[in-house]
Amino acid sequence: MSETDERGEAGGEKPWIPHEIADREGQLNPYPFFAEIREEAPLRYDPQRDTYDIVGYDAVVESITQHERFTRRNTSYINGSLLSTGEPIHSELRGMAQDYFQPGFLKERYRPKIEARVDELLDGALAGDDHIDFVEEFAKPLPILIIAELLNVPAERMDTFRKWSATLATAPEDNSPEAFAALEKKQGKAMGELQELFQAEIDRREASPMEDIIMNHIRSERESDLVDRSNVLANLSMLLIAGNVTTTQYLANAVWTFDEEDIVEDLQTGEIPLMDALEEVLRYRSPVMPGKRIATQNTEIAGVRIEEGQRIVGWLSAANRDPEVFDDPDEFRPGRTYEREPIPFGKGIHYCLGAPLANMEARVFFEKFLDRVDGWEVTADEIDPFVSSEIYGPRQLPIRVRS
Ligand code: HEM
Repeated sequence: MSETDERGEAGGEKPWIPHEIADREGQLNPYPFFAEIREEAPLRYDPQRDTYDIVGYDAVVESITQHERFTRRNTSYINGSLLSTGEPIHSELRGMAQDYFQPGFLKERYRPKIEARVDELLDGALAGDDHIDFVEEFAKPLPILIIAELLNVPAERMDTFRKWSATLATAPEDNSPEAFAALEKKQGKAMGELQELFQAEIDRREASPMEDIIMNHIRSERESDLVDRSNVLANLSMLLIAGNVTTTQYLANAVWTFDEEDIVEDLQTGEIPLMDALEEVLRYRSPVMPGKRIATQNTEIAGVRIEEGQRIVGWLSAANRDPEVFDDPDEFRPGRTYEREPIPFGKGIHYCLGAPLANMEARVFFEKFLDRVDGWEVTADEIDPFVSSEIYGPRQLPIRVRS
């Protein structure tokens, strides 16, 4: 049996993103909108989207961790992957990949590769003009180079990967049915092409086995009664996509915030520890905004009755700025102490598999970048946000580097 039979593209035709934050301004600063809801209640019902928006920390955690009541199934454009299946299939699919994302394994096998890639990118970008687009020069290429290496897929397809990832993470131009249909068509095409690529990679290994994460998927599929080839293709596609635009926005959010807060020098001297600052970026400007779920039964959350089949969104970016949990949540304060952890990587069974990889990439990148430049300023008058129901951060980030 495969869960890919249960389609429900992108969770149906209604947008996941509330119209209040679907425009440029709302995407750039969704926090007042979340705060406004929170003043009244931890959640609100939006009749336009027939969706509950959950903004209080405890209710968000409940919505994303209670997977028997609130499922991630049928909420994604990639059906049948670990992110879009429930148990027991989810654990089996996660098991096919998880050894490759363990911090120890990553450190030993990938840290040197990440260092080499960062050096190459820095050598290239810093040799030229001191005005660069940080997103184009560093934040986009680095994650894609690393995830392609980890998945052992051809590096010459890098540009195509990048295009697919961006297409799959983008929101429709507006909330009209036409814009939805156009985007769904584009996303369907990108998914199809991505899966063709992985099928070709599987064929290659079936003809001539090699030891890697794709081979691990092939072996597990052969041994499994639960998952089939469609799950394997979806899983591999998800791995390629999930680590891409997310990490791009993480790096870009950090460069933007460090300049805005004027702490680049403090990071260089060690006055502010880099790891504290990066952790705070993930809370303050969480790259992934929502946790999308569908109720599997009639239930209740924060005292509100939720019917089976109801769509809900636990807004991670709202939880991470809940004043009940974080003092002065709208202040960027590296090294703050928490009673409850921020949840930029989610929580529960779908907790981000790639969190150790994203953290390692950011750490290696900033250790080197801070070492090689005197500083930087963001030169854009206004930040141009990535418009997406998932992702938060700049689409471009022009900076002037002082070196
Ligand atoms: C800063 C960068 C990243 C952020 C903020 C992030 C955030 C998240 C979040 C919030 C979830 C859970 C979604 C939910 O519960 O609905 C998730 C899941 C996931 N992420 Fe990430 N992610 C990042 C980087 C990566 C990287 C580098 C990879 C590598 C492939 C990755 C792979 C995954 C996978 C496979 C899942 C699904 C896990 C499961 O369902 O068991 N992510 N991520």
